[in-house]
Amino acid sequence: MRSHYCGDLNLSHNGETVTLCGWVHRRRDHGGVIFLDLRDREGIAQVVIDPDTEEAFALADKARSEFVLKVTGLVRLRPQGGINPNMRTGDIEVLGKSVEILNSAQTPPFQLDGFVDVGEEVRLRYRYMDLRRPEMQEKLIMRSKATRLVRNYLEEHGFLDIETPMLTRATPEGARDYLVPSRVHPGSFYALPQSPQLFKQLLMVSGFDRYYQIVRCFRDEDLRAERQPEFTQIDIETSFMNEEKIMGMTQDMVTKMFSELLNVDLGKFPHLTFADAMRLYGSDKPDLRIPLQLIDIDDLVAGVEFKVFNGPANDPKGRVAALKVPGGGERMTRKQIDDYGKFVSLYGAKGLAWVKVNALENGVEGLQSPILKFLDEDVIMAIMARLDVANGDIIFFGSDSVKVVSDALGALRCKLGADLNLYTCAWAPLWVVDFPMFEENSQGGLTALHHPFTAPTCTPEELEANPATALSRAYDMVINGYEVGGGSIRIHDQAMQQSVFRVLDIQEEQQREKFGFLLDALKYGAPPHGGLAFGLDRLVMLLCGTDSIREVIAFPKTQSASCVMTQAPSPVDTQQLHELNIRIRRDAASATSH
Ligand code: AMO
Ligand code: AMP
Repeated sequence: MRSHYCGDLNLSHNGETVTLCGWVHRRRDHGGVIFLDLRDREGIAQVVIDPDTEEAFALADKARSEFVLKVTGLVRLRPQGGINPNMRTGDIEVLGKSVEILNSAQTPPFQLDGFVDVGEEVRLRYRYMDLRRPEMQEKLIMRSKATRLVRNYLEEHGFLDIETPMLTRATPEGARDYLVPSRVHPGSFYALPQSPQLFKQLLMVSGFDRYYQIVRCFRDEDLRAERQPEFTQIDIETSFMNEEKIMGMTQDMVTKMFSELLNVDLGKFPHLTFADAMRLYGSDKPDLRIPLQLIDIDDLVAGVEFKVFNGPANDPKGRVAALKVPGGGERMTRKQIDDYGKFVSLYGAKGLAWVKVNALENGVEGLQSPILKFLDEDVIMAIMARLDVANGDIIFFGSDSVKVVSDALGALRCKLGADLNLYTCAWAPLWVVDFPMFEENSQGGLTALHHPFTAPTCTPEELEANPATALSRAYDMVINGYEVGGGSIRIHDQAMQQSVFRVLDIQEEQQREKFGFLLDALKYGAPPHGGLAFGLDRLVMLLCGTDSIREVIAFPKTQSASCVMTQAPSPVDTQQLHELNIRIRRDAASATSH
């Protein structure tokens, strides 16, 4: 039907007759002349209709916002004074000769021209309208460009796109599974994949050597701005490549993505060990755009009377750390400081001690703080010396378990960075390496920090002797405080895999039951292999400069994992449940009924 996209018209089309198809973005009546801004996915063009083209004029007069029109007309230069430099097609307009109304539209639930935020709930309920907005169209176009670039890059580097099952067994990536009941096997369930981890490893055993897939993954976990129950990974696995090669190649791919799509040079990706990341930034995904670092002061306060400090300082699982904000004291009111105290309590902190440095030349007298009265002067001045403070600074303190202090001050660091706009650069990529193999779980046992197929840096004997201190060959790519990808070299040896299972307290019988196919495959010539998976949604979110992955997913779920447009999840017919041999507990049914 159309000869051109509206948004593609420019000076070079001057004098051409074109046919456009699109939506009425705006309609204005100017002294008997009708102006229609016609919109399609590529942009907006101004159509002018004179009363002397009677039939076209009559139809244009009927058109309202979001009507679908086909317009044929002549491209001409806009008159002097009519040029709109803010519009891609602002040099030209189309003199409409014929107009066809392809469909009418009711008044939209929210205005698309001059959009004011109507709240995400409404936007998601009418997502098909929301997606008409030029900025949403741009985001999905960016997403498509990103996947095209990834495919081209990986295909050029010899990767094969191979699909893996969606109806499968649970793969342990640390979240809850989405289960699908089997009709033909009453009482049995498939799990939707949390990732294709085991299948991609099996493809390496099959000799496919370089695999990729842009693949949907499913995880039933607490949702946040950067987490969805279904999300997309750029999943990669290779054989015969070490971590250096894998990180090098995937870094090159992401670098190309940013340079080609944003014209941004990501520069070097520093490597930071997990231990340093936690020590300096309180996070395994530090935002290195923010120049603040945590500084430990356990040794300085181990002997003080102040209980808030001396307990954690003398506890091997405790931590006392400080976060200095240069010049922050001058910019912060008491109320703001109290608000930061409330903020860190979300991370389990029981308080947020602080010191303002007003006049360092006056020693302790020149400091202002609710904790000075609990500390000796020499301790206070030793802390000030370690922090290398200057007048105008403010220092925050965290004292608790290592986890609480790191989480709380780590989050505070990011919040201060945003609130005070402390960013020193636009982009800060890095690799986090040398992760521990395991972390302690709430029951006092060990859980794999990455996943249980990650290779440790030591032998099976060393691993079983000292699991808590073992390091893994895992790596995460972090950009601006977001974990955009993670991977590892895998275990390709059955004995090592069984050692890991034993440390995780997965006994022989359970190993066979859950992972027998993997253990068997490792016996039939599994090559050394490793890989990584990027979160496509997070990468595109960064490319689009938004802070929620919902903005770059066409039909995302809300925070409560539901779709307000289709009303999923929804109850099903009793008949359907019957076929699946499922009965719903009455209390559960009433708790979730809509
Ligand atoms: P991991 O669990 O680290 O590793 O996931 C890889 C990347 O996927 C993204 N991601 C998510 N994005 C949106 N919503 C979610 N709920 C979500 N969960 C994860 C993140 C993360 O870095 N099989 C391994 C990869 C490997 O070892 O090769 C895995 O899935 O950006
Ligand atoms: P308190 O003696 O509990 O009134 O605490 C004195 C100061 O120490 C207050 O400013 C508290 O905010 C702060 N504080 C209390 N507990 C902690 C903690 N665990 N970490 C850091 N500061 C704390």
